[in-house]
Amino acid sequence: MSNSQYPLVSPVMSTAESTTVDLLIVPLIGSKDDELERLKSLDLSSHGVIARAFESGEFRNKRNQTLLVDLHGGDWNAKRAVLIGTRDRYRRRPDPRYLEDVIRQASAVGARLAGKLKATTVGVLFPGNSVRKWDGTKISWRWDWIAQAAIEGIGYGGFSDGRYRKSEKGSAKPAVYELVWSEGCTTVDLTESIRCGNATARSVNVAREFANDPANILTPRLFAERADLLCKESGLHTEILDEAAIQKLGMGLLLGVARGSEEPPRLLVMRYEPPQGSEVTLGLVGKGVTFDSGGISIKPAGGMERMKSDMSGGAAVIGSMCAIAEIGAPVGVIGLVPMTENMPSGRATKPGDILTSADGTTVEVINTDAEGRLILADALWYAQKLGATHLVDVATLTGACVVALGKVASGVFGHGLGVGPILAAAQSAGERVWELPLYPEYREQLESELADLKNVGGREGGACTAASFLESFTNGKPWAHLDIAGTAWTERAGPDGDAGATGVMVRTLVALATKTHIPVGKAGP
Ligand code: BES
Ligand code: ZN
Ligand code: ZN
Repeated sequence: MSNSQYPLVSPVMSTAESTTVDLLIVPLIGSKDDELERLKSLDLSSHGVIARAFESGEFRNKRNQTLLVDLHGGDWNAKRAVLIGTRDRYRRRPDPRYLEDVIRQASAVGARLAGKLKATTVGVLFPGNSVRKWDGTKISWRWDWIAQAAIEGIGYGGFSDGRYRKSEKGSAKPAVYELVWSEGCTTVDLTESIRCGNATARSVNVAREFANDPANILTPRLFAERADLLCKESGLHTEILDEAAIQKLGMGLLLGVARGSEEPPRLLVMRYEPPQGSEVTLGLVGKGVTFDSGGISIKPAGGMERMKSDMSGGAAVIGSMCAIAEIGAPVGVIGLVPMTENMPSGRATKPGDILTSADGTTVEVINTDAEGRLILADALWYAQKLGATHLVDVATLTGACVVALGKVASGVFGHGLGVGPILAAAQSAGERVWELPLYPEYREQLESELADLKNVGGREGGACTAASFLESFTNGKPWAHLDIAGTAWTERAGPDGDAGATGVMVRTLVALATKTHIPVGKAGP
């Protein structure tokens, strides 16, 4: 099924008076008095509805609270405006360090509403330049960051995956987006931010669609073909390795997981090379299990359908690679996604079987449901063979990570210069990532009686032992492992869009590669 959520229409820049949009999104960052002062003419145009809603307490500027008002001319030609609250539950004003986050979320909330109201033209009003910080000084906005955040927010909030519903097919999306300067803004060229915002939002939604796709449709073969097409459109060099090629490379772990399935595995290779060349090559590896039944160590029936999204890490890598190619990055990037199903059958790998990885390591499979680390190990080896100097892998790897961090943050593990740049990139991209430890004791839990390693280390520290398993395949290169088991999927529709796949870590990976959070030139650990 074709991807329908993109591209976004490139936004138009307008001024407050000239915009004629159906819906104007107005994030409220400042104090009540500041904002009422700034929006005096908007209030007049709403016939005083805004000021009355503030006075009566009906509108309390709570985070993501909305106040929809009709506009009746005056200084304004937009038809309606929606004020979006930004204060947290302690009624604190947003922390100035995270203002782009606030704009991103408010724009997403507004875009969601625009979809419901069937608005065809939508604008985001920039915050005013009179907004003050807690200490009374004025905020000096980075308008380029604000613009990117607004564009991204519209992209996330406007996403709703109706591809599999008869009724929603072809449902109209707003056709024109505008960024609207507030009075007093210093106008600057925002072309670059708009381009980055669009590319990032589109890529997040690409990842969401892949992870939403059911496993009867998105088989490893189709996943590879579709991703390959998208990547080529973005200007990436790609290659799909089939079963024979995977065999030739000796990837016994990937083949061992794929054995139980009727569907053959694939390994997708994507390459981005900066025009000026680079000493640093970032290897991005994403888990691409299109369905994880657990294999012979089969999972319980309850919730098993969710395991169609066990390729969310792979989807994040594919989405990121597209955005990286479109935006351009100062470093080389290789994206690798091993794709397979994990199924039980008469041919399937059994507990106790010993598999040999491409680098010669032997692995005793204790539990066939710990398949992600197996396929990632072979792909991490291949990334290094292709010249990666720095490694990042992304995977819905362990239930234990969900127990540790809930669905609130992704876990990150690593060594060398791996973790710091990820934390910096995640913060700049507005995604939550929390570091978990990789002490040597976790590696001891993986000692096997017969082989070099076993694939599980018992119940204790399950997320850490899984990371420790992967570490064995990184040869001391700077490396970070992102466990997104808790964050890749949401059961509840939120400000960022519908329930379902979240496209988590695309933003972080794009920021990592394009904003060079990697210390270039320091390839060693
Ligand atoms: N795909 C799962 C992990 C997962 C769990 C993802 C929940 C999303 C939500 C992974 O392959 C798995 O089954 N891991 C096992 C490992 C165990 C057998 C050591 C787990 O976490 O239970
Ligand atoms: Zn599993
Ligand atoms: Zn899995």
